[in-house]
Amino acid sequence: MGHAVHVRGLSVHTSAGARLVDDISFTLHEAERVALVGASGSGKSLTAAAVLGTLPVTLNACGSIRVCGCDVRPGRLPRSRVGVAAVHQDPSTALNPLVRIGDQLDLVLRAHGTRAAVATTVATGLLQDVGFDDPETLLRRYPAELSGGQRQRVCLAIALAGRPRLLIADEPTTALDVDTQEQVLDAIERVRQRHGTALMLITHDRRVAATRTDRAIRMAQGRLVDEAVEADV
Ligand SMILES: Nc1ncnc2c1ncn2[C@@H]1O[C@H](COP(=O)(O)OP(=O)(O)OP(=O)(O)O)[C@@H](O)[C@H]1O
Ligand SMILES: [Mg+2]
Repeated sequence: MGHAVHVRGLSVHTSAGARLVDDISFTLHEAERVALVGASGSGKSLTAAAVLGTLPVTLNACGSIRVCGCDVRPGRLPRSRVGVAAVHQDPSTALNPLVRIGDQLDLVLRAHGTRAAVATTVATGLLQDVGFDDPETLLRRYPAELSGGQRQRVCLAIALAGRPRLLIADEPTTALDVDTQEQVLDAIERVRQRHGTALMLITHDRRVAATRTDRAIRMAQGRLVDEAVEADV
């Protein structure tokens, strides 16, 4: 089986030399679902940011990251071109409040090379994929006119616009109530299955890790804790 992502010796440090992520290595296979778990501050989001290429400019990273067979520099290169996309904890800040959902999707689709003539059809299909029954109406709405769960599913549709091989979801349901959490997790699972996307799911919820992923890897103080020992998370 191929690798969705192959990380070797990844470290993230401050300019003062503090190691926030300390020499970690892991692999996600194609279409595999892996939970990244660990206490608050253990380095999960920074690991995700290093893979995504969205580390803050004040931090530096070293090590090797291969995404879908391509070597990428850890740190600050947007990865959408090499097949990695993300959804984050707070869907309200991920969307532009002044731009209709349809125009936000259109922008992302066009950036990924979708022709203008078919962009609306593709956008409608993506919104259906993430569970919207009436995507045409949704395209005309502004983010403030949606619930938190609807916004998160729109973020998921936007993340999928580039047909990523790896989806990184950093606490995607923390800001949502329990029923809406399930809806969003169902949407992730459905699109993941349909497109064979690998999933790195960062969560504090043991039940979500156990039911929604194939295995868990655990971080503690910037390091990986032995996967085998923690396999029952
Ligand atoms: N831009 C930054 N500059 C300096 N230190 C940072 C920066 N971002 C994060 N850190 C520190 O790096 C460590 C790891 O942070 P990270 O956000 O990866 O934790 P996390 O595991 O995602 O935690 P949580 O579960 O609370 O989201 C923490 O000690 C945090 O304070
Ligand atoms: Mg985090």
